[in-house]
Amino acid sequence: MKIGVLGGGQLARMLALAGYPLGLDFVVLEPAADACAAPLTRHIQAAYDDPAALQRLAAEVDLVTYEFESVPAAAVQQLGASLPVFPRADSLATARDRRHEKNLFRELGIETAPFALVHDLQTLQQAAEQIGLPAVLKTRTLGYDGKGQQVLRNGDSLQDAWDAIGQAPAILEGLIEFDREVSIIAVRSVSGEMAFYPLAENVHEQGILRLSTCLHGDSHQALAEDYAKRVLERLDYVGVLAIEFFQLGSHLLANEMAPRVHNSGHWTIEGAETSQFENHLRGILGLPLGSTAPVGHTAMINLIGELPHAPAILGIENTHLHLYGKAPRVGRKIGHITLRENTEQALQERISQLKNLI
Ligand SMILES: Nc1ncnc2c1ncn2[C@@H]1O[C@H](COP(=O)(O)OP(=O)(O)O)[C@@H](O)[C@H]1O
Ligand SMILES: [Mg+2]
Repeated sequence: MKIGVLGGGQLARMLALAGYPLGLDFVVLEPAADACAAPLTRHIQAAYDDPAALQRLAAEVDLVTYEFESVPAAAVQQLGASLPVFPRADSLATARDRRHEKNLFRELGIETAPFALVHDLQTLQQAAEQIGLPAVLKTRTLGYDGKGQQVLRNGDSLQDAWDAIGQAPAILEGLIEFDREVSIIAVRSVSGEMAFYPLAENVHEQGILRLSTCLHGDSHQALAEDYAKRVLERLDYVGVLAIEFFQLGSHLLANEMAPRVHNSGHWTIEGAETSQFENHLRGILGLPLGSTAPVGHTAMINLIGELPHAPAILGIENTHLHLYGKAPRVGRKIGHITLRENTEQALQERISQLKNLI
């Protein structure tokens, strides 16, 4: 069985690592020559909208999935004409556009931050009056790691913010003073079987995920699963879906969703019975899903911009290092570390110890 992946970054690399034990092979379509999944897969180096490259991919694989949501819709459509593409094209179309994903949340009775659509300076002005400041201006598409966003506070120039996001179609969203950020990784198989991982608590710095900690028996677990289930069923979703929430008291406000394996689920490689990567593959292949039960108390720390001293990291007991084979660059995710302990307290101690090293 050969799986085609649109995108050849670390998520594709980790999908491949999870797929080989299941006897799967991988072909990635990715424009960058130094794609970090390339050494583990067959790499078709071409633009995502190159019809000839898409045709070659379709001829080589049995099924297509993707590791990022900004794939042109036409590419997914072309592939979908000749073979299964999971998650489905309309799941992708919903998740890649903040307008559509927020409208879907609302339709399903899932709370979100207040938001308004922005398409020029005048609608930005109206949105700022309607939503109130502080607020965040976010491009509707193509944003990641906090890119394409501007926080607006009283007195800030709307023109500057509008220019800073490249005058792209956007939403203005109320800035939420959340208690915590959490995310749920959910998976649904072609057969309709569903599974949910324990919530992760996420800490971001400058819009980039730094730390995810798996929560045990969190009081918001049931609500998050209920919300995720509504989305999975409405979209007839297939594969792993991540939903990020702002938690405010007993409320969960859905921030965004990702139609793919997600950075806040990397802890599952060592911290769950079955990793999100394996379960994504099981789901899209229609295989029974694996247990999502946690194994011990686990946290994941992202390595951003700089390689750590591997011997020092691995010298800490119960620590696992994942390097993606990417050249270090400021603000670039180049790997992650998983920590697993028997108790919550021991885990917190390890996290502090590790933070001093990186
Ligand atoms: N409305 C908001 N209120 C408070 N913090 C926000 C808001 N929107 C975004 N953030 C912060 O910025 C991070 C990145 O924003 P997000 O919308 O998830 O975009 P992306 O992950 O695609 O870059 C969030 O995880 C959160 O920490
Ligand atoms: Mg996010």
